[in-house]
Amino acid sequence: MNSRFSIGSLKFKNRIMTASGTFGYGLKFKDKMDIAKIGAIITKGLSLKPKEGNPMPRIAETTAGMLNSIGLQNVGVDAFGKNMLPKLIKTGAMVIANFFGDSEGEYVETAKKLDAMDGLHALEMNVSCPNVKKGGIQFGTDPEVLEKLTARVKAVTQKPLIVKLSPNVADIKQFARAVENGGADAISAINTLIGMAIDIKTKKPKLHRVTGGLSGPAIKPVALRMVYECARTVKIPIIGIGGIASVEDVVEFLIAGASAVQIGTMNFVEPAISQRLVSELETYCKENDIEDVSELVGAIEI
Ligand SMILES: Cc1cc2nc3c(=O)[nH]c(=O)nc-3n(C[C@H](O)[C@H](O)[C@H](O)COP(=O)(O)O)c2cc1C
Repeated sequence: MNSRFSIGSLKFKNRIMTASGTFGYGLKFKDKMDIAKIGAIITKGLSLKPKEGNPMPRIAETTAGMLNSIGLQNVGVDAFGKNMLPKLIKTGAMVIANFFGDSEGEYVETAKKLDAMDGLHALEMNVSCPNVKKGGIQFGTDPEVLEKLTARVKAVTQKPLIVKLSPNVADIKQFARAVENGGADAISAINTLIGMAIDIKTKKPKLHRVTGGLSGPAIKPVALRMVYECARTVKIPIIGIGGIASVEDVVEFLIAGASAVQIGTMNFVEPAISQRLVSELETYCKENDIEDVSELVGAIEI
């Protein structure tokens, strides 16, 4: 059974990855599971300088999901390259660095640093971040800004560039097109949906920052719809993300048009879920006479 696939010139051994921010930098899991068996590890979001994140409380459980306002806390791109990446590479895992900035210049500078890191396989750009120079509007919610940002970052890296779309837009197709026009090698979709929760006893929001990103099984139908729409709009590969909790969910995303998937919130419930899903997808294919996973990709019948 063949489960390999490529993004640009980069070949992956299978189609299951861990989603940014839900698997740390990958290292703390290396004794609990074989992280080299997963398609790729996507790191926590990295920025030019280390970032402390938002005040507590910054996590709230919701029906079939969770809200977070972690605030992209991270060690910074330099410390990642120096202290973590070499150890990660030694495990044999494929490593994709997720990164962000609060200005175009910061995105470009961070991408340059990542591009120079030997052994790092690809970059995933998070555009669900406020553009400080444009009054805090997210980069990923203006197609023109997104296309320009993608092109500027693509120009400074030889490594494959994946752009991770924000779902907090009316028409995701426009954004998929913008990213493809900007020269991205792949799209990942979706990031978290903006939501909130209130404690009815205190009448206070459950998150210090009032709103946060909703993730987990609650968002799966929205994510699936967006992956389907992106896959019908662009030719570059789509990596589906959002509420995946079982092999059936993985297959659903592949049929909708995703070439690969990322597992996020469910890592908090079962840290080795990605490794389990790699072998369950193989079993699923064997049981259903599927010789190559690509037979499932975009196989939706309407
Ligand atoms: C605690 C937490 C932290 C996250 N941090 C990041 C991040 O740093 N960069 C990013 O692009 N996405 C981040 N995400 C979004 C996830 O990678 C994923 O897109 C989203 O949670 C939807 O997938 P899921 O429903 O499987 O969790 C984070 C999500 C959670 C729950």
